[in-house]
Amino acid sequence: MDTIESRIDSQSDEYKANYEAMEKLVEQLKAELDKARNERSEKARARNTELGKLTVQQRLDLVLDPNTPWLEIAPLAAWGMYDKRIHSAGSRAGIGLIQGREVLVHANDPMIKGGTIYPLGVKKTQRCQTIAMENRLPLVMLVDSGGAFLPLQSEIFPDADDGGRIFYNQAWMSKMDIPQITAVMGLCTAGAAYIPAMSDHVVHVNRTGAIFLGGPPLVKAATGEEVTAEQLGGAMVHCQQSGVSDYFAEDDAHACQIVRDIVAVLPRRPKAEIPMRQPEDPLYPPQEIWGIVPRKLVTPYDVREVIARLVDGSRFLEFKALYGPTLVCGWAYLHGHLVGILGNNGVLFSDSSLKATHFIQLCDRQGIPLVFLQNISGYIIGREYERAGITKDGHKMVNAVATATVPKFTVIVGSSFGAGNYGMCGRAYSPRFLWMWPNAQIGVMGGEQAAEVLVSVKNEQLIREGAGPMPPQLVEAIKKPIVETALKEGNAYYSTANLWDDGILDPAKTRDVLGLAISASLCAPIEPRRQGHGTFRM
Ligand code: COA
Repeated sequence: MDTIESRIDSQSDEYKANYEAMEKLVEQLKAELDKARNERSEKARARNTELGKLTVQQRLDLVLDPNTPWLEIAPLAAWGMYDKRIHSAGSRAGIGLIQGREVLVHANDPMIKGGTIYPLGVKKTQRCQTIAMENRLPLVMLVDSGGAFLPLQSEIFPDADDGGRIFYNQAWMSKMDIPQITAVMGLCTAGAAYIPAMSDHVVHVNRTGAIFLGGPPLVKAATGEEVTAEQLGGAMVHCQQSGVSDYFAEDDAHACQIVRDIVAVLPRRPKAEIPMRQPEDPLYPPQEIWGIVPRKLVTPYDVREVIARLVDGSRFLEFKALYGPTLVCGWAYLHGHLVGILGNNGVLFSDSSLKATHFIQLCDRQGIPLVFLQNISGYIIGREYERAGITKDGHKMVNAVATATVPKFTVIVGSSFGAGNYGMCGRAYSPRFLWMWPNAQIGVMGGEQAAEVLVSVKNEQLIREGAGPMPPQLVEAIKKPIVETALKEGNAYYSTANLWDDGILDPAKTRDVLGLAISASLCAPIEPRRQGHGTFRM
């Protein structure tokens, strides 16, 4: 593999201006993450202490191996939504090490509206389950939740991908041999009672933990019976009488210890094997990405400069370097793992689409994970290209991405527009993980283009009706809201709030995050594609 030779001048005005712009975006990101982790009302804090409970952070610290990496999932889910304080959609989740083993941990935050579940909370729990299933990770749930956030119950309960799906997934995970451990650290009311009930192992904290299908107020209303939460579904009831829970814990800390003990005795499967080397830092510091990424999305730059700051030794074996130059493909080691990388260097043409198809097939057959660096305004359009069959060449790439069974990882490093999003493994193409950089934008097309399309449709309609083309003021009045909405709803924060991604990343941290994610993905077997036809040279 050759070392990528960087052409970046870190003393140039352009580099410095880019660096400053990205620094601001990363500072904003850090501030938002800090708020999500720490902004809680005094009332909620006092209540948590009064009940003798630990905070979510303290629980995570006790359950995870000390001083080990934590790959947080969707820390800014529900950002700016509801009352703007349902941070992280009401729970913390991530992949960490317990007893040296990669485990997905999901913990409700009782200091956010009693840990109740909002619609985005349902989506986040299901996203965690998908990650656990795809990567075969044991799932630990630290439950402390008032159940459905009742004012929004119609958005949480009835549909196929609403709350009930969580328990359906639990049943399938059990069938798939994915261990599920629940620690009952607060209420598990009504439907939420099924979280421990559907788990393989249930740890129950005395006094604060309770499981019941109907809470004390409902029991009183329905039957007149007066009963406390502890009498109804406390640890003694369920560990001694009903058998719903398996392990009695004195307090939160004890429960965390028991969870660790359970993980220690889970059967261990060997990780999938891919070609590995001793990890090595890139030759060029990842921090320099801040100065490389242009301030405007439309400004082109060479994605090899980013690859050089992500991969071991900045070494890269480029595939078809002279063919289809708007897509860079090649092999590199990342934190010691061999991966196939695809990065955009412009619009996708027929040749770049065919090159991608060929490359993806090779990686899929060889069992090599794929990393997509997505910065794409779309596939080329126009008469010449339609005649040359861009749609069928794009189809081959989309088909190869969709059906590749090796682990796929996507980082949206700039634009993510149109079918380019599909071909470069957008969310709908099931990458194991997908992240956005804070400068990234996503949408069917850019706001300006969308506005132009709508103006032209309206004009044609008016001309057809004999009313002539629109006056310039009307054109502006149509364009402005479309451009504004596209900017707002295509923004990385809007994306992450809606869980279209697994988080916004500081570009300088991308290498480490990818390393952790690739390692976690190897907990699931990789079966290189052997059936059907061979690789088609495109
Ligand atoms: N839906 C909407 N809001 C709820 C809620 C629910 N299911 N459960 C609690 N809340 C809100 C409370 O109104 C309160 O809001 P506020 O901070 O704006 O005043 C906040 O969550 C905290 O509740 P509080 O009762 O003050 O805290 P707590 O720590 O003493 O108790 C619970 C938390 C969850 C144990 C308790 O609120 C409770 O039992 N909730 C009802 C649980 C239930 O029956 N759910 C059925 C849904 S399936």
